[in-house]
Amino acid sequence: MKAIWYEKQGDASDVLVFGEIDKPVPQNGEVLVKVSFSGLNPSDTKRRSGFRGQKHAFPKIIPHSDGSGVIESVGRNVDKNRVGERVWLYSAQWQRPFGTAANFVCVPSTLAIPLADTTSLEVGATIGIPALTGYAGMFKYSKLNGSTILITGGGGCVGNCAIQMAKYAGAHVISSVSGQEKMTAALNAGADHVLRYDNTHFVEDIMDITTDRKLDLIFDVAFGHNIETNLNLIKEHGIISTYASDNKSIAEIPFQKFLQMNLSICSVFMYLLEDKMMHDALQFLNNWQNDIGIKPFIAKQYHLSETILAHQDLESGNIIGNIIIDCQG
Ligand SMILES: NC(=O)c1ccc[n+]([C@@H]2O[C@H](COP(=O)([O-])OP(=O)(O)OC[C@H]3O[C@@H](n4cnc5c(N)ncnc54)[C@H](OP(=O)(O)O)[C@@H]3O)[C@@H](O)[C@H]2O)c1
Repeated sequence: MKAIWYEKQGDASDVLVFGEIDKPVPQNGEVLVKVSFSGLNPSDTKRRSGFRGQKHAFPKIIPHSDGSGVIESVGRNVDKNRVGERVWLYSAQWQRPFGTAANFVCVPSTLAIPLADTTSLEVGATIGIPALTGYAGMFKYSKLNGSTILITGGGGCVGNCAIQMAKYAGAHVISSVSGQEKMTAALNAGADHVLRYDNTHFVEDIMDITTDRKLDLIFDVAFGHNIETNLNLIKEHGIISTYASDNKSIAEIPFQKFLQMNLSICSVFMYLLEDKMMHDALQFLNNWQNDIGIKPFIAKQYHLSETILAHQDLESGNIIGNIIIDCQG
């Protein structure tokens, strides 16, 4: 089969190889999926480049954890009726060497989730990391119905998906972005209000929107950068839930303020969701797809042979939306 792989960490153009590799055979508990689309996320490029000291964990790595496709065969102890099922995939290359950037991938049956009839295979490849991160970060303590929340980075893949999920759950959603195109993306996702976070009146503008009622939850893409602003927006007993802090990995926390406001910090690492959380998330995602459908947020589609360009595009920071890779065309 055709696949993309790397045998050492480095720049995409230096280490990613496109070539032929043996088609995998599903082992006990696994399914073999004919991959339609591979979904690219920052964690894939960070793992490839060795971001913040990440180790090269296997001699040969086929990257990408997210994807979609059709189950072609199953290993022992997997229901044979799954053959032919359309699925979306998550965590395919988490603590395993071979991910979705290939014609075929074998994954534990539990990582191949039935895709709703209403969801295209293209969109299916964009569900995994963004949606599971959004669910874990926003629904850990609350069902959100009636809550007023801020989702920072509404033009980002996780943020945009989170807006859609929060609106489906019945939240009043304010989002922050850095420019006009991202503002349009956040509004298209369903945000009730979208503001530029570089505006000096950001906090006052949000308080105008809420008529001075502080926020129940902030779902944040830039913890270290936004901590002071967020402390001016969150209510007592509120939750600051975060999944990234790329530009400021060591954040200073004004402890006394956190203490006296009885605030909670919720940090999310989607690869490590507990079983109950994962079960609830999958149920929610299924209902969301069937009830209203996922609005596509796909910016670019590449052929498998162009995966270097896809990685470079993601790392440029200039792409607004998901990048997917056609693994069959
Ligand atoms: N913990 C986890 O499990 C987990 C899961 C998924 C992703 N992540 C991480 O989360 C980050 C985002 O992932 P993604 O796929 O959503 O990336 P993305 O599509 O590039 O989106 C990131 C967004 O964050 C915005 N942003 C950056 N700084 C901001 C700030 N101070 N306030 C508001 N918005 C800000 C960016 O816009 P501007 O630059 O224009 O402001 C951009 O729109 C990455 O670092 C990724 O590795 C972590």
